[in-house]
Amino acid sequence: MPTATNFELTEVPVPSMKEGELLVKALYISVDPYMRSRMSDAKSYVPSFEVGKPMDGGVVAEVIESRHPDFVAGDAVLGHLQWQEIQTINAQQVTKLEKTVPLSYYLGILGMPGLTAYFGLNEIGKPVAGETIVVSGAAGAVGMVVCQIARIKGCRVVGIAGSDEKIAYLKDVLKVDEVINYHSEKNMKATIAHACPDGVDVYYDNVGGEISDAVFSNINKFARIILCGQISLYNNTDIPVGPRPQPLMVKKSALMQGFIVSNYSARFGEGIQQLAQWLGEGKLSYQETIVEGFEKLPETFIGLFHGKNTGKLLIKTNS
Ligand SMILES: NC(=O)c1ccc[n+]([C@@H]2O[C@H](COP(=O)([O-])OP(=O)(O)OC[C@H]3O[C@@H](n4cnc5c(N)ncnc54)[C@H](OP(=O)(O)O)[C@@H]3O)[C@@H](O)[C@H]2O)c1
Repeated sequence: MPTATNFELTEVPVPSMKEGELLVKALYISVDPYMRSRMSDAKSYVPSFEVGKPMDGGVVAEVIESRHPDFVAGDAVLGHLQWQEIQTINAQQVTKLEKTVPLSYYLGILGMPGLTAYFGLNEIGKPVAGETIVVSGAAGAVGMVVCQIARIKGCRVVGIAGSDEKIAYLKDVLKVDEVINYHSEKNMKATIAHACPDGVDVYYDNVGGEISDAVFSNINKFARIILCGQISLYNNTDIPVGPRPQPLMVKKSALMQGFIVSNYSARFGEGIQQLAQWLGEGKLSYQETIVEGFEKLPETFIGLFHGKNTGKLLIKTNS
């Protein structure tokens, strides 16, 4: 588990600007579970963070000064930027944002987590009306969107989350059909069986570990298991050994597929358009946990692994 001592807050001079560059100040900074995987030297689909250098990730920023013809001071931009309050960047690192929705949405429902929910569920889960879908990490940034899309598709949705507040949010606001607080259940296998009397057709897996083991034992024939994330294992130093699900997968002719949202980058426009339309029509509701203060980045990031957030977790800078 990372601790605050793994982080350092420093002041450095802002480099002078060249042609084609922008001086930007961060407005919203995203903290995401995948960043934990980058705090290691293990080979992955994204490079490791370098010790002594700033972390980076999704940032919504405001242009303070522009040396690029397509941008003016005051523009809002989105990019993969460093965890810095102010920085000089190449204008090609960012895209200009429309200010028609709250700017934080571009890091959540209309950004990477929303697209992860949309493509993972539709392309791998292929949900059909009337089917039962189980979503773990259901009250998080990705999970809350998955639950709602599955309901739009006419599925029966069972959401798993880790606190009574999250359970109430899933039930009362998102209208999820059945909810399970995994912290207060002793026998998750039986609890899931009870919540899914017709079995599990689609499992959207955000957390892995024992919760997923319990879901696997309830899958139906031709079930689809979407491996989106395994947050319960990200702080493990050893590879855990659990039940091996392969015999069950054979018996049930089930599909289990992992994915990275960037696999679908060529279709992000389609995804954002659909999510924005559902949002505009009131078919998607949205929740964020916003923490104020750039200096709160480390503890906020660590909070992801303690379930501190409902919906998308973000830092809002004081600048
Ligand atoms: N494949 C991709 O391209 C892609 C893209 C984005 C995200 N992801 C993955 O999707 C998952 C969700 O990401 P997100 O951004 O939406 O995060 P999130 O769900 O908003 O936040 C993390 C949540 O995970 C839960 N959690 C933390 N530790 C846990 C544990 N040991 N066991 C069970 N649940 C635990 C907590 O909720 P509770 O209170 O409910 O425990 C916490 O609030 C992550 O695994 C992430 O890595 C994958």
